[in-house]
Amino acid sequence: MQTDSKKKNILIIGSGGREHALGWKLARSSKVKRVFHCPGNGGTKNNVAIDSFDYWKLIEFAEKNGCETLVGPEGPLAAGIVDQFLSCNLRIFGPSKVAAKLESSKVFSKQFMQKAGIRTSPFVILSSYRDAEDYVKSQTDELVIKAEGLASGKGVFVCSTQKEAILALQSLMLDREFGESGDRIIIEKKIQGKEASYIAICDGNSFVPMVMSRDHKRACDGDTGLNTGGMGSYSPVGDIKEDLEAEIANDIIKPTIRGMREAGTPFSGFLYAGLMLDSENGTPIVLEFNARMGDPECQSLMVRMDSDLYPYLDAAMDKRLLHMPPIKWKKHHSVCVVMASKGYPGKYNTGRRIYGLNSRLSDKVVIFHSGTIRESTHRITNAGGRVLSVTATGRNLELARREAYQAVRKICWGSGEEYYRTDIGKPSATNE
Ligand code: GLY
Repeated sequence: MQTDSKKKNILIIGSGGREHALGWKLARSSKVKRVFHCPGNGGTKNNVAIDSFDYWKLIEFAEKNGCETLVGPEGPLAAGIVDQFLSCNLRIFGPSKVAAKLESSKVFSKQFMQKAGIRTSPFVILSSYRDAEDYVKSQTDELVIKAEGLASGKGVFVCSTQKEAILALQSLMLDREFGESGDRIIIEKKIQGKEASYIAICDGNSFVPMVMSRDHKRACDGDTGLNTGGMGSYSPVGDIKEDLEAEIANDIIKPTIRGMREAGTPFSGFLYAGLMLDSENGTPIVLEFNARMGDPECQSLMVRMDSDLYPYLDAAMDKRLLHMPPIKWKKHHSVCVVMASKGYPGKYNTGRRIYGLNSRLSDKVVIFHSGTIRESTHRITNAGGRVLSVTATGRNLELARREAYQAVRKICWGSGEEYYRTDIGKPSATNE
């Protein structure tokens, strides 16, 4: 057991369910004294009211409180928070600004994959609306249209018809729904298959993988409706071919780490490969890279992780992951159901009191918050699109699902203003 003076304080940047889950896990580490969340949410403790982009104030706070820092969301990473902390000799876990381009620039990412020989869907890059419309009209395949820059997971349009594709182009390039993120777009052929998320902890040279998980990105049951930041997740992923994880490690993660290192931009942090497992032979094809943990995959993973998380982050910051043992995982399954404000990913109401958070929940359930505010000890209100990640474990997927939905049904806000998918973790709902 670590003496208290050797234990670490951790500052987690971000306010989502992912950050709540990371904090929940780190708070259970024998090596961690205190976890601060900045800005945190209505469910996290020790919240620090500093803007996630106000680096000098964050640096001052980390220095004063002896914190090591973990960055949750892509925004501060893309803006260079890691470089700023490192320039002040502060320990921080996450990729540098240039390495985070694997996520923050889809053009960089696709060109990197092409150069490194990593399987990804064929694509074109376009920056004029007229050219993009002409291209769409010349195609007979189903298409996926992506904003070049960050768009909170909402800048990807999976289009079944030419009409849908043209509406997506209009929204990105003419209406500029995501501002300059839509100045350039990627159009690629839709690949048929099942999605899966492979996330690894990296130190620029080596990596330690997590187990696989799967999220449900579309807003409505049956994987229909608009893309969202993620409406639920589960782990492990049962329907994958043997040796898939080794294939992903060898054909995707190793070449990515090598390619980034050779380019002089080594990747440290969570590397998240969003994959499509091709419907014909299960071959993993990279849909996108993210330079951070997945949300809500993180929630499903943290409740299954048996090893202490901190030593892996510590080893990654010291570049000695090569010597770390594999992470141990609990055998049980986990399911995370995201409760969102009705209307998400479009417009929704906020400020509604959430009821049921204190109802008697099974010990198999953990509720991670995202868009919530604690207004007083017993009053928590919704403050965002994704509000709660109700995460449960069970001996099998069905039992975990049952636990999660039993808890979900005890929670409500406003007059029926909560919304959730009813098929998270159901085999028929998993991109088949
Ligand atoms: N689960 C999707 C994401 O984190 O981007």
